Amino acid sequence: MIRVRGLHKSYRSGDGSSQRVLRGVDLDIARGEFLSVVGRSGSGKTTLLNIIGGLDSDYEGAVEVEGKRLHEMTDLEASAYRNNHVGFVFQSFHLFDYMSCLENVMLPSLFDRKGGAAADARARALDLLDQVGIAEKASQPPMNLSGGQKQRVAIARALFNRPSMMICDEPTGNLDRRSGDAILELFRALNQEDRITLLIVTHDPLIADAATRCVRIEDGQVREDSGASVRASDEDGGADGGVDAGEGAFEAEERA
Ligand SMILES: Nc1ncnc2c1ncn2[C@@H]1O[C@H](COP(=O)(O)OP(=O)(O)O)[C@@H](O)[C@H]1O
Ligand SMILES: [Mg+2]
Repeated sequence: MIRVRGLHKSYRSGDGSSQRVLRGVDLDIARGEFLSVVGRSGSGKTTLLNIIGGLDSDYEGAVEVEGKRLHEMTDLEASAYRNNHVGFVFQSFHLFDYMSCLENVMLPSLFDRKGGAAADARARALDLLDQVGIAEKASQPPMNLSGGQKQRVAIARALFNRPSMMICDEPTGNLDRRSGDAILELFRALNQEDRITLLIVTHDPLIADAATRCVRIEDGQVREDSGASVRASDEDGGADGGVDAGEGAFEAEERA
């Protein structure tokens, strides 16, 4: 589904110096996988997620989605990928407090070129809030919610366009253990029941253990481990994740 090869990324600063963050990352993500990514703070995990999610196109190397390189996609294809195939969840929720939870979840409908009926979008958003267990908060602004509840809203929003993959950057990083556990249960159900591919950067050992596969970023490269309970001390030579051929090439849904 996703194939990353020879990915290099440097950040340049104003004084002309540059910092090499990713130094030849190779990574395959198969459809339906629950993959956790761990690594020290500053090791480049967020940088990698942003590139895979199509939020950052300033890199060298290849990122392919269903056989198609992100760099070779048209603007329309790239935005279809970001908006319809990937759902993003962040540590700090990224919700708008001047809107209700329902409106936050409906936000992706604003970018839908088809311009679906607002009533349909509301109904879908309400369904999603129900699915994540907080339908009763629909009319409240997010600021009235606990961290765990906010993250449920953010997950509902990420699900709005029925993504095949969710990209999550330390989704339980701001949550207490109990809220974190509930969010993990939600992810587990999304992966097992709805077959959503999960790519989750985390420091949370419970998420890393729940994942079906865990990779570690070290020295700007992916050190790939395989299996559920892997640790940094593993020897070299993790199994190749293998690419799921999938069902045909990625095709942008050009909603003209
Ligand atoms: N926009 C940016 N401009 C310059 N340097 C950055 C930028 N984003 C991240 N970095 C640097 O790149 C390195 C990797 O950052 P990041 O990908 O956020 O790591 P992680 O998510 O693993 O903590 C860090 O040293 C960070 O300071
Ligand atoms: Mg980060």
